[in-house]
Amino acid sequence: MGKKDKSAKSEKSEKRAKDERTGTADALSAKAEKPAKAEKPAKAEKSAKSEKSAKAEKSAKAEKSAKAEKPAKSEKSAKAEKSAKAEKSAKAEKSAKAEKSAKAEKSAKAEKSAKAEKSAKSEKPAKSEKSAKAEKSAKAEKKQKKADAEEAAKDERAASDERAPEGARISTLPSARRVLILTGGGDAPGLNAVLRAFVKRAVSHGIQVLGSEDGFSGLLEDRPRVRHLDEAAVRGILPRGGSVLGCSNLANPFEFPVGPKDKRTYEDRSERVAARLRELGVETLVLVGGDGTMSMGLRFQKLGIPVVGIPKTIDNDLGATDFTFGLDTAVDTATWAIDALHSTAEAHDRVMILELMGRHAGWIALCAGIAGGADVILIPEIPYDVDRVATKIRERSAAGSTFSIVVVGEGAFPAGGEISTLTKGRSGHLPRLGGAGQHLAQLLDGKCDHEIRVTVLGHVQRGGSPSSFDRLLGTRFGVKAADLCAEGRTGRLVALRGTVIRSVPLEEAVAKPKLVPPDGELVTAARAVGIEMGA
Ligand code: F6P
Repeated sequence: MGKKDKSAKSEKSEKRAKDERTGTADALSAKAEKPAKAEKPAKAEKSAKSEKSAKAEKSAKAEKSAKAEKPAKSEKSAKAEKSAKAEKSAKAEKSAKAEKSAKAEKSAKAEKSAKAEKSAKSEKPAKSEKSAKAEKSAKAEKKQKKADAEEAAKDERAASDERAPEGARISTLPSARRVLILTGGGDAPGLNAVLRAFVKRAVSHGIQVLGSEDGFSGLLEDRPRVRHLDEAAVRGILPRGGSVLGCSNLANPFEFPVGPKDKRTYEDRSERVAARLRELGVETLVLVGGDGTMSMGLRFQKLGIPVVGIPKTIDNDLGATDFTFGLDTAVDTATWAIDALHSTAEAHDRVMILELMGRHAGWIALCAGIAGGADVILIPEIPYDVDRVATKIRERSAAGSTFSIVVVGEGAFPAGGEISTLTKGRSGHLPRLGGAGQHLAQLLDGKCDHEIRVTVLGHVQRGGSPSSFDRLLGTRFGVKAADLCAEGRTGRLVALRGTVIRSVPLEEAVAKPKLVPPDGELVTAARAVGIEMGA
């Protein structure tokens, strides 16, 4: 700075100081702001200008770049637009097609249902008659099923009662009553087990038990033979065969034999039975027997006498139960006989024919034949061809087995032939069977070189001490029958179904016999082990 400038400045500051001393604050501030204001426009103008130009430049650049980019973008968007359009039209086409096919389907369905309706209408009269019948039978079936289910539920409740404490069980049962038991028809091993169990259980229910001797005979005779059965009366009888009450298959009260054998007539004495039972104060008749005895039971039930049935027969032919007691013992005895015949047959190179019981059912012959290892088994359910039997015997000989065991059920017969009978059955009774073994021996004669002998095992099969199975089954049946009496569930038969003891309507006892299914598992097993079944 020159001297001139310096002095000018100091002059200026001096002047300001003077003003300050003399002047106002406003004047001072106005002076102080002035140079700042004057400076600002210049700067602002400058910065505004630069800002403006920067913006212009920026926008020019943006415009330029926008212009440069524009052709690329529009190409892309054109493509997108094109594809969108294509997509749209494809969609529209698809939905149109779907609509069309839906319509076609709808109309096809409508047409089908119209046709079905038309045909249903035309069929209606025939169907309605048919359907009414079907409906009726369905209702009856439903009713029966319901009744069965109720009874099954009762059986189950009774079974669960058994698990209840003694006091609780007894208190739910009605008070003391009287029943009469008898063993009808032929005897069967296990009858005493039934009587023993029935009496013991009935007594525990507070029921008095009477027993008629020799089936219905004891009830019907002028001086009735009816005993009181208590625990002492049935003590020690479990292993005994037969029946401590005695049996009779002649004393049918609906056809009771009267007069000497040569002048015999038959009378309906069922009313006398009813009267006797009333006199004795018996409320339930308990019948142990086969289909014959159960048919009588059904008739009594229909006459208003409550009946409980216990199935019995060595033949095992009652459809209502899977097993009857007696079969097992009979099969054991017959198996023992087959074993015994083996040694003597072998010693003499003979054909041994063993005739077994079973009437029209081949259970004893089939079971014992399999268990004893018979070579041929002939049963009533499979009519036999004697040539097949002869061929089997010859084949065995050719293979070195010089003997053969042939088991034949008493009801077996050759195809086209007849059952062998000993005597004709009198009115209301079956014929006595016998001679099936002998008949077979005659048919075989000349068809094989062996000597042939026939053994008829007969009533040995029904006798003797019952097997453990029969004692057990008899006991279970007896207990169940006493429970039915205690519960007042009559018109019922105790039965083994599978492994469970149940009760079924008495009608079932006689509805359908239980025969050996010719294509069943037992016959298949027999064939599988090389046994000739005769057909
Ligand atoms: O029904 C049992 C049964 O042993 C049959 O197998 C046989 O045919 C019949 O009885 C024999 O009856 P009866 O003892 O009257 O000779």
